[in-house]
Amino acid sequence: MSDSGFPTDFTFGAATAAYQIEGAVHADGRGPSIWDTFSHRPGTIANGDTGDVACDHYHRWEGDLDLLAELGVDAYRFSIAWPRIQPEGRGPANPRGLAFYERLVDGLLDRGIAPYVTLYHWDLPQALEDRGGWTARDTAGRFTDYAELVHGALGDRVEAWTTLNEPWCSAMLGYAEGVHAPGITDPTAAYRAAHHLLLAHGQGVAAMRAGMGAGWENRFSITLNLHPIRPRDQDDEADLDAVLRIDAIQNRLWLDPVLSGRYADDVGDLLREAGAEEAVHEGDLAQIAEPLDFLGVNYYFGVEVTAGRRPEERPPSRFPLAEDVVLVEPVGATTAMGWEINPEALRGLLGRLHDEHPGLPLVITENGSAFDEVVGPHGVDDPERIDYLDRHLRVAAQAIAAGVPLQGYFAWSLLDNFEWALGYEKRFGLVRVDYATQERRIKASGRWYADVIANRALR
Ligand code: FCB
Repeated sequence: MSDSGFPTDFTFGAATAAYQIEGAVHADGRGPSIWDTFSHRPGTIANGDTGDVACDHYHRWEGDLDLLAELGVDAYRFSIAWPRIQPEGRGPANPRGLAFYERLVDGLLDRGIAPYVTLYHWDLPQALEDRGGWTARDTAGRFTDYAELVHGALGDRVEAWTTLNEPWCSAMLGYAEGVHAPGITDPTAAYRAAHHLLLAHGQGVAAMRAGMGAGWENRFSITLNLHPIRPRDQDDEADLDAVLRIDAIQNRLWLDPVLSGRYADDVGDLLREAGAEEAVHEGDLAQIAEPLDFLGVNYYFGVEVTAGRRPEERPPSRFPLAEDVVLVEPVGATTAMGWEINPEALRGLLGRLHDEHPGLPLVITENGSAFDEVVGPHGVDDPERIDYLDRHLRVAAQAIAAGVPLQGYFAWSLLDNFEWALGYEKRFGLVRVDYATQERRIKASGRWYADVIANRALR
């Protein structure tokens, strides 16, 4: 393989998530999720936006699948809204909710596009949050039931299954910093949630694997948002220590239990210090380490840190118990999110995963960028996004050439959509969405991506 080409069996895709695109929050018996509750709480989301309508994908899915076909993708990664399947988070499947995803999956297969299902992209049924959400051990059991229901219905047609998307965000943004649903700011809750999310993953995979029908070809995974962490000063002991502490919370809290069935000593210390250690029961780690068929990697940016001073009080932080570490503002080019553009860090990340877990198949399940765009007479010209994608895909191609078992790449996102706490302001789509009319228009980056896919190479 050359440094800019991809193997013929490489999977090129695009990704979305249910709450970010579907809308139709009351349709066909869907129950409320924590994101419905949270987004309707004043002051939580930019401009008071909510996912009530979003891209109205629930009604426009056929046209959206046609867009995927026009881009020529091999696969489409989407998530299933748990509250459409179990409006109260428990009990039998709601047939109308399930039917939507059956139509979607069949529509993809008709178009020759492989479905990549994510079971949980943050939209916990509100009824479960009312009983403690992810801080409650029972939620892992509820997730396992839900996974079995969906897998039982779609496992004959869907090969690729992902349990959780970015559990770090669920635990730390949701329960520690409080900027995501359910909006709680409690380090103990966050670390308990982390462990229960991991447990849900392991139990969910085991249950689905055990439930595989004759002739089903399923592959199971989890998607983690991994960020390479680097020190501001390579020669400063305190900065190097800061790197380890953020790496523990961002990366190793997830990678080690899932792939090695253990918490590293410093991660164990965090759980203890947070008062969350009794959440870890005998035998949990063995369950969490249920073998994976591939690891999903979401990569957006690297993070530079430096040692700071311990604050008097602990402010709500996405790195609870490491509130003193300072995240350095990026100095170079950034996206509209303020995220540094750093394809080299992706190279380092893929190399690290390959070194630490040789042979583990990897899929980049999200990578992409938001930029402020102008709609011209010919649609959206977005050279910055093309450049971003080109540079990251180049690193992906080089990693494959260097022997990393990287099997696929999913651009985030197919459509502009509801970017969580930032609402509709930040646009990540390969396709422009006019929210007033719901009109879709493929951007220059979408055309560019289609060309890469068709050629299986960068120019
Ligand atoms: C990731 C999320 C995804 C999207 C991108 C920009 O953290 O998984 O839903 O919001 O960031």
